[in-house]
Amino acid sequence: TEGMNAQDLAKILHRSAAEIVKKLFMLGVMVNQNQSLDKDTIEILAADYGIEAKEKVQEDIADLDKFFDDEQKNQEHMVPRPPVVTVMGHVDHGKTTLLDKIRHSHVTAHEAGGITQAIGAYQVRYNDQLITFLDTPGHAAFSEMRARGANITDITVLVVAADDGVMPQTIEAINHAKAAKTPIIVAVNKIDKPGANPDHVTEQLTEYGLVPEDWGGDTIFVKISAKFDKNIDELLDMILLQAEMMELKANPEQRAAGSVVEARLDQGRGPVATLLVQQGTMHVGDPIVVGNTFGRVRTMNNENGRKIKKATPSTPVEITGLNDVPQAGDRFVVFEDEKTARAAGEERAKRAQEEERARTSHVTLDNLFDTM
Ligand code: GTP
Ligand code: MG
Repeated sequence: TEGMNAQDLAKILHRSAAEIVKKLFMLGVMVNQNQSLDKDTIEILAADYGIEAKEKVQEDIADLDKFFDDEQKNQEHMVPRPPVVTVMGHVDHGKTTLLDKIRHSHVTAHEAGGITQAIGAYQVRYNDQLITFLDTPGHAAFSEMRARGANITDITVLVVAADDGVMPQTIEAINHAKAAKTPIIVAVNKIDKPGANPDHVTEQLTEYGLVPEDWGGDTIFVKISAKFDKNIDELLDMILLQAEMMELKANPEQRAAGSVVEARLDQGRGPVATLLVQQGTMHVGDPIVVGNTFGRVRTMNNENGRKIKKATPSTPVEITGLNDVPQAGDRFVVFEDEKTARAAGEERAKRAQEEERARTSHVTLDNLFDTM
């Protein structure tokens, strides 16, 4: 808007410059066509014509959270969607083994050191109903990842090994789930083990407000053995029961929006992002802004690496086609056209860069050495 005058404004608003000058006169601002206008004047005038000033629009586009929420406000066409379930718990308590059994696959066999280092996203069909699962790492180093997992989930399944009991990351997981206000279903695992003491685990958990129904509380507890496939169907039944009570809905008709589960740079394919579609339907070719990156959905795969053309709410997908690697936890929103997506993406990247610069600008060589 630097140096914008009545003539420039007239072009943007599709009016004659004379009309703009006249309108300004009525508003008490006396200018000629070539005199530059201040920002307030432009906004008042723009508002008067029923539109927001260009800068304002740009700002809104760049605010993905607001965009995301606006899209969510669209209450028409809401239909039931699968629950998103995050599996959390202390390291080695059996989260991945449980999901393996549920998916009848063997993910743990490929993990470095048998430790989960990223969030996995899977969809399974049970009793003809879809459930989306997010596996999270239990290792202490991945606290942020667990927090993000809790924030995009509907239900938390807390896995606690019956031979080990409540441990630091068990407590951390409880806190994440509580902060995110998601219901917790407790899966007391490894009940097959000789040293297993499920009642002790239950007792420990009551201290954190997780009390089973037969003890007078309202938390669902299921005693399982992930390894020996014991009571896993019962756990799935409880997940579906909990989901049913929540009446989870989304509108598949709108443009897609959701969150980044994880992202990385692939040598051959460029930036690859695992996204969870939370609203709308995503299609190959969609212009998209993901965090501070943008692009067009070039390829879209499901968790088995199979190509898919569209993804409805609660579906995890892996996409390529972004200009850069977004961050896990970032929001994404599909845009109407590529040009706007690019503008919003670039605006966001610029802003992130400025914020970063502001954060580090107080650091000079002198005070850097002072702190050493
Ligand atoms: P992180 O992802 O590193 O936090 O671990 P995790 O919670 O995913 O644990 P994982 O599934 O990798 O299992 C850890 C170990 O416990 C493996 O050796 C499993 O075979 C074993 N295990 C898991 N569930 C059971 C169970 O129900 N019974 C017994 N006996 N062993 C189990
Ligand atoms: Mg694991």
